[in-house]
Amino acid sequence: MKKLIAGNWKMNKTTIEAKDLIQDIIANYEACQSAEILICPPFTQLYQANELLRETNIRLGAQDCSNQEGGAYTGQISATMLKDLGCSHVILGHSERRSIIKESDALIAEKLKTAQGKGLHVILCVGEEDKDREAGKHKDIVQKQLDMSLPGDAILDSLTIAYEPVWAIGTGKTATSADISEMHGFINKYLSERFGEMGSRLRILYGGSVKPTNANEILNIDHVGGALVGGASLNADDFLAIYRGVFVN
Ligand code: PGA
Repeated sequence: MKKLIAGNWKMNKTTIEAKDLIQDIIANYEACQSAEILICPPFTQLYQANELLRETNIRLGAQDCSNQEGGAYTGQISATMLKDLGCSHVILGHSERRSIIKESDALIAEKLKTAQGKGLHVILCVGEEDKDREAGKHKDIVQKQLDMSLPGDAILDSLTIAYEPVWAIGTGKTATSADISEMHGFINKYLSERFGEMGSRLRILYGGSVKPTNANEILNIDHVGGALVGGASLNADDFLAIYRGVFVN
């Protein structure tokens, strides 16, 4: 299966900065058969990004969407609006939304159903906090997040899981290869037990301080189907170096 290298820009980039970054990515990227590339700018940059990416095979995604289809929901953005802006993907359940915005698993499950119902491919994020890992509860926490935020009738063709240990996000601390291998193996087993053959084939991204210097090692771990990249996706050289890490063995 193709690896997916996804850039999560978070709350970064003004219009001019976003244009520069996207043009830099387009100018230096060589399309290939074994990996896909996706960028997820903030909502405010999706229109421009879609215009710039139109002639490329770089995919466009958003970082969140509403659980509601439309109407009186001040400040929210619907899945239909994202489709209209050329998005193929949406990230849901990112730990920053779970912890800062206090999104519940139940709300994330509703968002997932709405987004998939409108034809978006969902990247569902899960991951434990430092204290959970120290208490040896990392698997229990991730399993609970999957039990509660991934509905049994999710469309598996439109689903990618991202395992992002919260303590490794934006901290420069990467999980060890052994940690990643253990958790990706665990999530793969969970998905195959819950969803059968289709579940076992779901792509599982790793996220948390992925950078050019560790990407190749991470991307070659069993059951790692790609990377969800935050900080290093804000710079074209770093982001593309991670993408190229897919091809080095
Ligand atoms: P990071 O963020 O690469 O800056 O650690 C990853 C993420 O939060 O998706």
